[in-house]
Amino acid sequence: MFGLVSIVLAVIQLQVSFAAGDTDYANKTPVELFQEYIRINTTTHNDLTPAVDFWKALANAAGVPINVIEIVQGYPIVVLKWAGTDSSLPSIMLNSHMDVVPADIEDGWAYDPFSGHIDENGVIYGRGTQDMKSVSIQYYEALRRLKENNVQFLRDVYMTLMPDEEVGAENGMIQFVKTAEFKAMNVGIELDEGTSYPLPVAPLFYQDKVVWQIQVDCHGVAAHGSTFPATNETATGKCRNVIDRFFAFRDEQFAIANASPTEAESYTSVNLNRLSGGTANNVIPSRVSLVFDIRLGTKVNEENFDNLIHKFIDESGENITVTYISKNQQSPATIANSSNPYFQAIACATKQVGIQILPVVPPGSTDARHVRNAGYPAFGFSPMPNTELLLHSVNERLAVSTFTNGITVYKAIINNLANIPGSETAEDGRVYLLTTAT
Ligand SMILES: *[C@@H]1O[C@H](CO)[C@@H](O)[C@H](O)[C@H]1NC(C)=O
Ligand SMILES: *[C@@H]1O[C@H](CO)[C@@H](O)[C@H](O)[C@H]1NC(C)=O
Ligand SMILES: *[C@@H]1O[C@H](CO)[C@@H](O)[C@H](O)[C@H]1NC(C)=O
Ligand SMILES: *[C@@H]1O[C@H](CO)[C@@H](O)[C@H](O)[C@H]1NC(C)=O
Ligand SMILES: [Zn+2]
Repeated sequence: MFGLVSIVLAVIQLQVSFAAGDTDYANKTPVELFQEYIRINTTTHNDLTPAVDFWKALANAAGVPINVIEIVQGYPIVVLKWAGTDSSLPSIMLNSHMDVVPADIEDGWAYDPFSGHIDENGVIYGRGTQDMKSVSIQYYEALRRLKENNVQFLRDVYMTLMPDEEVGAENGMIQFVKTAEFKAMNVGIELDEGTSYPLPVAPLFYQDKVVWQIQVDCHGVAAHGSTFPATNETATGKCRNVIDRFFAFRDEQFAIANASPTEAESYTSVNLNRLSGGTANNVIPSRVSLVFDIRLGTKVNEENFDNLIHKFIDESGENITVTYISKNQQSPATIANSSNPYFQAIACATKQVGIQILPVVPPGSTDARHVRNAGYPAFGFSPMPNTELLLHSVNERLAVSTFTNGITVYKAIINNLANIPGSETAEDGRVYLLTTAT
């Protein structure tokens, strides 16, 4: 009797929990899911509750558990789990970020960037179509189909969704890798975002360049605009000396980049992105500030580079200060050859489905660097070959056919990764990482 009552109650609860998701996600096509996800405005710092609810409904539809971890209030991290038959083995972490960079139809979009409009050529428009809501839905659909086809996973597979990749992950991945929840996942390999590519290949990121941003404040004599102090006594004159040195270095690096533009690991980019100072047209300013954005080449020794910056400042005159706005530590590379079984699994899968991968270091950086810094191998990959690079651009868009092909690509990749025999992978993923800075 009591047993019967609890069964009836359980059934009622089940129905209630399904009714709670207002849409029938189990019967939606992947393209419809993609459109629905684009329609949720997840511009960084927005309330992500609608996105979390979306993933709760999708987890429900797939019949898998979901965990929402909020380390910093307002920045939820979502984790879905597809359990394998041997949870003691290192797992597969499929990461993506929920947030997108801002978009406004006024900027010249052909369609509302949060509408998921599909035009007459079968191209879906919207913020996040390339970066990176496509990948989140592709992971999900691939996992759902594999499960529907009764494919067994040996290893646990997790989907993780981050809240703030686009602004540096201070409240997301940087915190997440320090948690007990992350440690308990026992990650063997992390997949993260890659990029679209205009040729019939898909880049595979195995390392990220790191960001240093510095503010240089030059202090000099303040005087009436009619006076004529020595150039090197003025704030602007000292700034000239600073800029001359950084730009001479920039020219050297530009020559390296220009000679091999696809080898972003080989050069250090330097851009002077902000200049400020002055109070009136006829007053010589006592202070002028410069902000440089620097992306270190992957072989650059941090201590030597720090010394170089200070040498430039010291040579430029007295009373010049430098403040670090950000100074990320160099991140290791993931070994991208057959000695790494995770790489091998990806290479075989992409070959099977006829997509050519190109291991590269991107000019920018992704959440994967925080995972590598925590000691776990990671690759960045988004299956968007033959696609114009429109991440963060106006009219960001993706061919529906590229999107749906990507599901097939991930089915093959996930199936291979999740079934690497336990004996083939090391317990400690650090063996697949390589420090390249000298
Ligand atoms: C999306 O969110 C951003 C940031 O909150 C906001 O400025 C923008 O107006 C929103 N766009 C739409 C179409 O709601
Ligand atoms: C001004 O300072 C720069 C950098 O220290 C130096 O190269 C230059 O010779 C100085 N100019 C004069 C006129 O002293
Ligand atoms: C540096 O700044 C201090 C304090 O503003 C000032 O007293 C000093 O004369 C300055 N030195 C030079 C070389 O500009
Ligand atoms: C793979 O790459 C690592 C690091 O560059 C190298 O030491 C190793 O010899 C390579 N192995 C193979 C099989 O290519
Ligand atoms: Zn991204």
